[in-house]
Amino acid sequence: MNLINRPRRLRRTDEVRRLCRETRLSSDSLIWPIFVDEALSGVRPIESLPGQNHYGLDSVTQAVEESLAHGVTHGVLFGLPRHKDACGSSAWAEDGVIQQAVRTIKAAYPHFHVITDVCMCEYTDHGHCGILCGEEVDNDKTLEVLSKTALSHVMAGADMVAPSDMMDGRIAAIRETLDSHGFAMTPIMAYSAKYASAFYGPFRSAAGSAPAFGDRRGYQMDPHNRREALKECALDVSEGADILMVKPALSYLDVIRECWDAFDLPLCAYSVSGEYAMIKAASAAGLVDEYRVMCETALSIFRAGADMLITYYAKELSDAIRRGDIG
Ligand code: PBG
Repeated sequence: MNLINRPRRLRRTDEVRRLCRETRLSSDSLIWPIFVDEALSGVRPIESLPGQNHYGLDSVTQAVEESLAHGVTHGVLFGLPRHKDACGSSAWAEDGVIQQAVRTIKAAYPHFHVITDVCMCEYTDHGHCGILCGEEVDNDKTLEVLSKTALSHVMAGADMVAPSDMMDGRIAAIRETLDSHGFAMTPIMAYSAKYASAFYGPFRSAAGSAPAFGDRRGYQMDPHNRREALKECALDVSEGADILMVKPALSYLDVIRECWDAFDLPLCAYSVSGEYAMIKAASAAGLVDEYRVMCETALSIFRAGADMLITYYAKELSDAIRRGDIG
């Protein structure tokens, strides 16, 4: 056989495969979601997310210690408040669950990088991501409470805020509020292309944030759309976002690729609760090898173009990277 091109030459041994890898992963680009429950003392497993826990304010440093033990130095915090009302007032309370958690974490571990999710749905009694006007979320009224909330997180010591509400103009509103209070150097990670997805189910039961009526399609993006993601990213860039995000990840790899190609900001992907729960369920049923599927799915998200990844598997992936199984 006179074959000149034999791609298999570069696949023969582990050494040559490692040399020629096109995608490199690092623990530095992993972010672990941490759920803090104001009414809890200690640690309680989350039923809808096997392997994940709710942490009480008395044990939130334990979450950080677990994370650091696996080499994961970035966390994104989600709060379950004791009190909910129509406008979500505990979202920006000085002694709110996230504000307390951030202060506790930063006092004990100043180098742990704390990102806070900024949204109203965990704090409103109706479960929508903003202030209602009738049955619709009022965009401009919501901007005020989002800005107050982001500011209160940063005042408590958050290193970065990540608004996930999908209101129009929220990046500009938050940027202006932070700047006028002396926080011009605090970055905003924008959930830019956040789709109205069925993959958020396990998160909503974990965070107690399912809407009491209706759904989120009036503000989150329609999964049919690709160019709209570019529009959302462009708006966030023009409003002063520092990092863009595509969410969910696995069903939106095309969007990740396009957004990475089109913008020069760092791009985050969020591999959401349903993606994690599906792998857990399939492996519990003996259908797939959890470890290998975890590695392959994370790899696919980075290959698509993500620069960083929010994932419930952050600790396990970091271990896999350290072992050399991926990356
Ligand atoms: C808050 C928020 C949600 C998620 C992150 N921030 C839920 C939602 O929009 O309904 C989902 C994360 C996940 O599913 O892992 N708005």
